[in-house]
Amino acid sequence: MEWKTLDGAVVVLTGGTSGIGRVAAERFGELGAEVVLVGRDRNRGVATLEAVREKGGDGLFVRADLGRLDAVRGVAEAVEERYDGVDVLALNAALSLPEREVTEVPGGRVERVLLVNHLAPYLLTHELVGHLESTPPSRVVVTASGVHTRGELRLDDPTYTEEYDALGAYARSKLANVLFSTELAERLPAGVDALAYHPGFVPGTSLYRETGGAFGLAVRVASLLGVGRSVEQAGLDLVYAAGAPELADASGGYLVGRDLEAPDSRVGNDTLRERLWDESARLLDLDPDWL
Ligand SMILES: NC(=O)c1ccc[n+]([C@@H]2O[C@H](COP(=O)([O-])OP(=O)(O)OC[C@H]3O[C@@H](n4cnc5c(N)ncnc54)[C@H](OP(=O)(O)O)[C@@H]3O)[C@@H](O)[C@H]2O)c1
Repeated sequence: MEWKTLDGAVVVLTGGTSGIGRVAAERFGELGAEVVLVGRDRNRGVATLEAVREKGGDGLFVRADLGRLDAVRGVAEAVEERYDGVDVLALNAALSLPEREVTEVPGGRVERVLLVNHLAPYLLTHELVGHLESTPPSRVVVTASGVHTRGELRLDDPTYTEEYDALGAYARSKLANVLFSTELAERLPAGVDALAYHPGFVPGTSLYRETGGAFGLAVRVASLLGVGRSVEQAGLDLVYAAGAPELADASGGYLVGRDLEAPDSRVGNDTLRERLWDESARLLDLDPDWL
């Protein structure tokens, strides 16, 4: 199906208030999109919406902590109240936490990085899938990371009670992102695509603000030295992933910058993808056959 332009398109963008998402938000605005910005910080949200409007777009800011399932559902409600369809769902928000935190969800307890970075995108997609289906062609883009190759999923223990390691928790949530977007692409009807996007190492964002120790120091030095990719380029590449017509046949793919590449070989494992899908549904108390 031929892809549409983003002029007038409805783009739901989580994590659009900082870093890669902030650059993408302004570019979506420049292209004339309606941008629904989701983040926790009201000041950053309001300022970003203003910037989107200055560039020529419009939209709204929905304040939500994606670590709360009622807040995730609130985002979907705010979207449905204002728009009849969603053209792009950009699941870009993520965090990395230095210490393990555990949150209660309907199906048990879950480690918070996995909750915010994977379960929240899964739930938001569930809530908005009808709106995506109603305006084909439409696209879901999950901002993943190359670090997913280092992720270890243990689906029988979603609290990850072993000794906590910040990078390990983040990597596993990013592996979940790639498994999810690939499985989502398999299940979505024709006209709705799903892609995973890895922006490269972008030390200039706020992602590593709470990362202490040697790694935190190395990231700060890398940022000062201009190592890695610029926030600007990574944000523009996210817009490419969301709107490039040449990606119309790329559903299920994994983009590194603007290039389609092979993700970790485990992503090709149907059984693992289905187990993650079903376990995510169980934790959220959803019917796993929702798609
Ligand atoms: N930077 C890199 O090197 C790199 C590499 C690979 C992949 N990525 C991915 O790129 C994406 C964007 O990250 P970034 O580097 O641009 O980081 P960032 O500057 O820290 O931006 C993260 C965004 O997510 C939002 N967010 C975080 N936790 C949230 C929560 N609980 N509820 C709602 N919103 C939340 C933040 O908004 P609030 O603070 O207002 O909530 C912010 O807008 C992430 O998916 C990250 O995993 C980044």
